[in-house]
Amino acid sequence: MLAMNYRGPFRVRLDKDKPEPQILHPQDAIVKVTRTCICGSDLHLYHGLVPDTRVGMTFGHEFTGVVEQVGDDVKNLKVGDRVLVPFNIACGTCPFCSQHLFGNCHESNSEATAVGGIFGYSHTAGGYDGGQAEYVRVPYADVGPVVIPEWMDLDDAVLLTDVVPTGYQAAEMAGIKKGDTVVVFGAGPIGIMAAKCAWLFGAGRVIVIDELEYRLEFVKSYAQCEVYNFRSMKDPVLFLKKLTGIGPDVCIDAVGCEAAGNAFHTITGRKTLVQAGSPTALEWAINGVKKGGIISIVGVYGPTANLIPIGNVVNKGLTIRANQASVKRLLPRLIEHVKNGILNPKEIITHRIPLEEVAEGYHIFSAKRDNCIKTIMIPPKAA
Ligand SMILES: NC(=O)c1ccc[n+]([C@@H]2O[C@H](COP(=O)([O-])OP(=O)(O)OC[C@H]3O[C@@H](n4cnc5c(N)ncnc54)[C@H](O)[C@@H]3O)[C@@H](O)[C@H]2O)c1
Ligand SMILES: [Zn+2]
Ligand SMILES: [Zn+2]
Repeated sequence: MLAMNYRGPFRVRLDKDKPEPQILHPQDAIVKVTRTCICGSDLHLYHGLVPDTRVGMTFGHEFTGVVEQVGDDVKNLKVGDRVLVPFNIACGTCPFCSQHLFGNCHESNSEATAVGGIFGYSHTAGGYDGGQAEYVRVPYADVGPVVIPEWMDLDDAVLLTDVVPTGYQAAEMAGIKKGDTVVVFGAGPIGIMAAKCAWLFGAGRVIVIDELEYRLEFVKSYAQCEVYNFRSMKDPVLFLKKLTGIGPDVCIDAVGCEAAGNAFHTITGRKTLVQAGSPTALEWAINGVKKGGIISIVGVYGPTANLIPIGNVVNKGLTIRANQASVKRLLPRLIEHVKNGILNPKEIITHRIPLEEVAEGYHIFSAKRDNCIKTIMIPPKAA
């Protein structure tokens, strides 16, 4: 089958004859992929920042498909069902899944102490092959996948596997109260969705910060928010204080370990790997938020130490909440929001490319070329 194949940092190619996945366990399903996206999280892998990302692996944790085969124990799915598949691989019954912490499943990545299994996300997330391929093996098939309602567009469905729930959970974790001022760092797909969802929780003011003008322009009209370019600020922390008086009530980090804006962080975190990426947006969030404020982190960070101003967290009395999104938990209400037109996810898609052009797809998204916001790839048999 055709599949994305990781060759090492900044090198991705199309495999033309990767063996098709097989049912390995009675709870598995094989899904024929109809849509698959490239995510900001894939960029951390692509840039070589995630440990144990092995050559030959197929990435891709955002995909929809059609059920092709089911294992003997699968009860909720049948061959031919159109499904959207959450990026978390979750067993459904371990102590963490039982609390609906589907991103922290113990069984799907039992050797790890933090994250559960994720499709196509290195051996730190279980070593599962992902959905940037024609077919993918879906473990615990009764738990994650959701049958796509007849009325739903596939382009919306594929964004419900990660982007929409992650943006929504970013706003949810921020504990927004009526009238709160919310600052979102990052105007990528996740920051855009977090800004949009902040209003659903009662925000009174939503401010988005990035350096890419085309993304700021987009989010300004998509999420009806204020936007500012950090390149035009001398000091983003002071800027936020001046703009809001005592500092925003809430800051959301939708950037993660590849933040720009601080040369020291870039050199230590992305060039020499002395720290696990550049925590610049998180530092601005911690130093900029008001005393007693809340920081919500959905940006992805590596497992080792980072130069984060933890003393300021203590002295300001901040609350930090963070996690991988628990996609399955949020899907019922998000499907309703799409149905009612409250959320229109597919409007963020700027690029639709054949799976065969996966290498070019990564290059465009990584280099933020061609006003790229979100790329979806379509396998030839699904076109
Ligand atoms: N927790 C989860 O479940 C989850 C799920 C999906 C993605 N993520 C993470 O969310 C983050 C964003 O994902 P995305 O797909 O939107 O990525 P993206 O790369 O498209 O967007 C990141 C944006 O941040 C901007 N940026 C860089 N430095 C900044 C700074 N200092 N301040 C403000 N903005 C800055 C970039 O210009 C870019 O527009 C990534 O770290 C990704 O791994 C987490
Ligand atoms: Zn993703
Ligand atoms: Zn579990």
